[in-house]
Amino acid sequence: MSQSQLLVTSALPYANGHIHLGHLVEYIQTDIWVRFQKLQGRRCIYICADDTHGTAIMIRARQEGIREEELLQRMHQAHTRDFAGFQIAFDHYGSTHSEENRQLCWEIWQSLRKAGMIYQQEVRQLYDPVAGTFLADRFVKGTCPNCRAPNQYGDSCDRCGHHYDPIDLIDPVSSLSGTRPEVRSAVHLFVDIEKQHAFLEEWTQTGDHLQPEIANYLRGHFLGQPLRPWDVSRPAPYFGFEIPDSPGNYWYVWFDAPIGYMASTWQWCKKVGEDFDAWWANPQTHIWHFIGKDITYFHTLFWPAMLRVSRYQLPRRIQIHGFLTVNGEKMSKSKGTFILASTYLKYLDPSYLRYYYASKLTPRVDDLDLNFEDLAEKADTDLVGKIVNLASRTARFVVSTGLASSWPDDGGLFAQAAAEGEQIAQAYQSCDFNRAMRLILAAADRANQYVERQEPWRLAKDPDQTEQLQKVCTVALNLFRQIAVYLAPVLPRLAEQTGQLLHVPIRHWDDSQKPLLGTPVRPFEHMLKRVDRQAIAAMIEESRQPEEMPPALAERTVVPAATPASADTPVSAQPASSHPSPEDDEGPLQAEPLAPQCTMEDFQKIDLRVARIIQAEDVPNAKKLLRLTVSLGGQHRRTVFAGIKGLYKPEELVGRLVILVANLAPRKMSFGISEGMILAAGSGEGEIYLLTPDPGAKPGQRVH
Ligand code: MSP
Ligand code: ZN
Repeated sequence: MSQSQLLVTSALPYANGHIHLGHLVEYIQTDIWVRFQKLQGRRCIYICADDTHGTAIMIRARQEGIREEELLQRMHQAHTRDFAGFQIAFDHYGSTHSEENRQLCWEIWQSLRKAGMIYQQEVRQLYDPVAGTFLADRFVKGTCPNCRAPNQYGDSCDRCGHHYDPIDLIDPVSSLSGTRPEVRSAVHLFVDIEKQHAFLEEWTQTGDHLQPEIANYLRGHFLGQPLRPWDVSRPAPYFGFEIPDSPGNYWYVWFDAPIGYMASTWQWCKKVGEDFDAWWANPQTHIWHFIGKDITYFHTLFWPAMLRVSRYQLPRRIQIHGFLTVNGEKMSKSKGTFILASTYLKYLDPSYLRYYYASKLTPRVDDLDLNFEDLAEKADTDLVGKIVNLASRTARFVVSTGLASSWPDDGGLFAQAAAEGEQIAQAYQSCDFNRAMRLILAAADRANQYVERQEPWRLAKDPDQTEQLQKVCTVALNLFRQIAVYLAPVLPRLAEQTGQLLHVPIRHWDDSQKPLLGTPVRPFEHMLKRVDRQAIAAMIEESRQPEEMPPALAERTVVPAATPASADTPVSAQPASSHPSPEDDEGPLQAEPLAPQCTMEDFQKIDLRVARIIQAEDVPNAKKLLRLTVSLGGQHRRTVFAGIKGLYKPEELVGRLVILVANLAPRKMSFGISEGMILAAGSGEGEIYLLTPDPGAKPGQRVH
């Protein structure tokens, strides 16, 4: 009989956004649990990947004028760098855009077909003929058919809460092109998940697969009625996998995303020479998925239903956490509390956040609040004041002698904390990290009382007390090490530093059960500093953005399809913002009379090109300048300083096509070198209008 093994996952983050402190609730939680299992000596792997498919990625790649794969590679690098910065140690971090995933999707798809669970049906959907794509709910806005509130998203109304079909929106406008979409029909494929109703009832309500509040929620909201069929295909164009037995249709991203857990495991298997089936098709494998509450539905109903018909293992447990709030509110860009992982790492030590989240995480689905004052307080008091201090106040007195070679009388302190190891381990196992931290802190309090009673700094001054001094420090350093073992899942770096200080690495939970004796001690080196309050303020300042913009609006620029807009584009397709123009007057011409005549030759010296703005940033000390990065297609990039600050918001510019004077000699400015000029009309003073080619133009095309 083979032994049981653990396969642990976190949800696969979308490749179209950067990792932020909200995500990290999940990745830190999972990482702690995995490190705990490994420290216990269990066979355990931690698998994750980027979730790469869907409309949003396709649109963004178009906006940036690059292939999706290029975008994916860049985000993969950014994600893995951010995770490494927080010491999140995946065994493998893959991608859903892989051959392994394509194959597994096909296999599971065929199983669903065999089980008679797939059928097809016409779906009427909004289609943007300018962008050349069907519109996902968040890419369309219009007036609510129920309460007539304007400017509502495609699926539900913010004002009255009504849910509707996007085709019922009044005066719909595509956020991709600003034009009015039309209704088109297409065949979609559906999974008849109702066929698995009885199984899902059983699976969700028994066997400790879910937290009790989740099981109740599913019973109350879904399982009391027939389960609605699941629309799992999207017609082209779509960035994903084409369905082999339904050409022109693609699997919806939520079909291939969870299969990505398997695909990424498969990649790991290839990397280390393991057998894939020995993991996913082996009843000895206990699969644990950690996810946030927003994606409960996919993981607790669809995913088990998909696995049930295949030859693979069902999850043993789906562990669901709540959402992060900051200062009691949703993270906010305008308040500077929407903080990216990479921004945090510029200012603060990841240990603070790992410990803070650990101290707040419970097995329940409650939301978790982050307050930076509280974080700083906890890190200073607990980590520096109560834990690191145990070592920094005692190690130097035993560098020359090492630890005592027999265990001195410590009033039973070490034995007490060793006996508590069992409870602490149970708290970790059940994801009650809050309880684990409280138990560990209580042990630290007792250790500090001991040190204060024994006053090693006083003993050190008395030559007759050298033996007593060695005993006291031996006890204190062993109590410290015991705590470092218990905290190792949360603070892996502290465990490593402790290993170096005391010459014996921490490798196993049981290292907490037996004191070190007669071993050398290195001079104490810095382990963790107090929290710099100014760094917190600077981090929040850097994260602050002028205004919260709904995601679809941020993508409001015209996005042509990969193929030029087709000839049947309706003539009425005009940007929503265009107004009928009043009689034009001659003011502008008078203000700036025509320049002297030039020849065709003169004109041709100037190389004008279509370019796409792919990055726009404020130049902090410049009154008028924005720094733009424009793409001429492929890898051809230019940096241009444009005097349009205050007239255009940087985030509105990204994705937009402009005309670039591409052969202008580079100009050195105090902020950097400007490699071209962007064409605009207007007098300049508070009045500038960027020139944009019609939709369909491609970066790099010359303007004649
Ligand atoms: N791509 C999907 C998951 C597919 S899994 C097969 C997705 N990605 S996500 O990037 O939006 O979120 C990844 C995980 O982070 C999810 O479990 C989500 O719940 C979690 N969180 C994202 N924002 C969060 C907070 N603000 N707070 C806590 N967790 C959050 O969903
Ligand atoms: Zn409404």
